[in-house]
Amino acid sequence: MRAAVYHEFGPPGVLQIEEQERPYVDGKDILIRIRAATVERDDTVWREIQGYNGVLKPKRKILGMYFAGEVVDTGPSAKRFRASEQVFGYTGRRLGAHAEYICISENEAITKVPPRVTYQDAAAVLNGSLTAIPYLRDTAKIKSGERVLVYGASGSVGIAAMQIGKALGAEMTGACSKANIELVESLGAGKVLDYVKDQLGDEANPYDVVFDTVGELPYKECRDVLKKRGWYLSTMKTPDVDSRMRTNSIFKKHRVMCVHTRGLSKKRILQNLETVTDWMAEGKLKAITDRSYSLSYIQEAHRYVETKRKRGAVIIEP
Ligand SMILES: NC(=O)c1ccc[n+]([C@@H]2O[C@H](COP(=O)([O-])OP(=O)(O)OC[C@H]3O[C@@H](n4cnc5c(N)ncnc54)[C@H](OP(=O)(O)O)[C@@H]3O)[C@@H](O)[C@H]2O)c1
Repeated sequence: MRAAVYHEFGPPGVLQIEEQERPYVDGKDILIRIRAATVERDDTVWREIQGYNGVLKPKRKILGMYFAGEVVDTGPSAKRFRASEQVFGYTGRRLGAHAEYICISENEAITKVPPRVTYQDAAAVLNGSLTAIPYLRDTAKIKSGERVLVYGASGSVGIAAMQIGKALGAEMTGACSKANIELVESLGAGKVLDYVKDQLGDEANPYDVVFDTVGELPYKECRDVLKKRGWYLSTMKTPDVDSRMRTNSIFKKHRVMCVHTRGLSKKRILQNLETVTDWMAEGKLKAITDRSYSLSYIQEAHRYVETKRKRGAVIIEP
């Protein structure tokens, strides 16, 4: 099978297309022909920087966590899936989705693609929604009518957060650059702010939740527009976020949280994936794809994701 492989840490040029032995199934494994996978910011970080995926050399040589494809073979004890079923899911720390095939236990966070959803859309929605659900539904527990600001509303996480907040009944405000205002409006936002020139809010009408999806809005810049006991959520555990999380208490004006998808149990991620499936089938969650590349263009895909300007997902089609 063809796979995008790297043997040393570094710039996008370290990624090479190599021929590898096709994995074989055993036990509860399923073999999936991957049709679409995403390139995320984390892929670019793990490619570049030592420590996340090995120290001297990359531990897992094939990157990619979110994928959709069809089951082509199943192990003797596998019961959840049959050959030819369309599935999508999250590989977790084992990575490996930037390849033609992946062999993975059926107990991982994998489920069937909802009817009438393409492989590209199924893969595109995963990172954002599996990240935003633990923040908005499970941490802030947002309720109907609450006011939520999503900062970085045009990225993968932002796009999902806008839609999930709306599905939970919140009054959504998105903040993005001028170029992305129309896109964020199309997600059903009550209000869209240009983060370069607009005020994020006013003290007279504060938010219940501020969700910084891109790690670019320090707490001190939004605390005045956040309600008492409101949540400041960030996808990035900066030293400031970390120290504020440690001192969360009932005596503090606001609550602060960063949740890592990788830190959640497989069972919880699978439950969240089932919710994503339901919301997609009900039309509450739609995928936005910025660009698609064939596997041969993996270096270009990484370069584009590194610009930090992508709108929604970047897809690789192996
Ligand atoms: N905690 C977790 O488990 C978890 C999970 C997934 C991702 N993450 C992290 O969350 C972050 C976002 O992920 P993502 O996949 O949504 O990223 P992404 O899709 O690459 O985000 C791209 C968007 O970020 C916006 N942006 C770039 N610079 C900005 C700035 N200075 N201020 C405001 N917006 C800015 C851009 O919009 P404009 O062009 O409109 O500015 C662009 O649309 C990443 O750092 C990622 O590592 C964490």
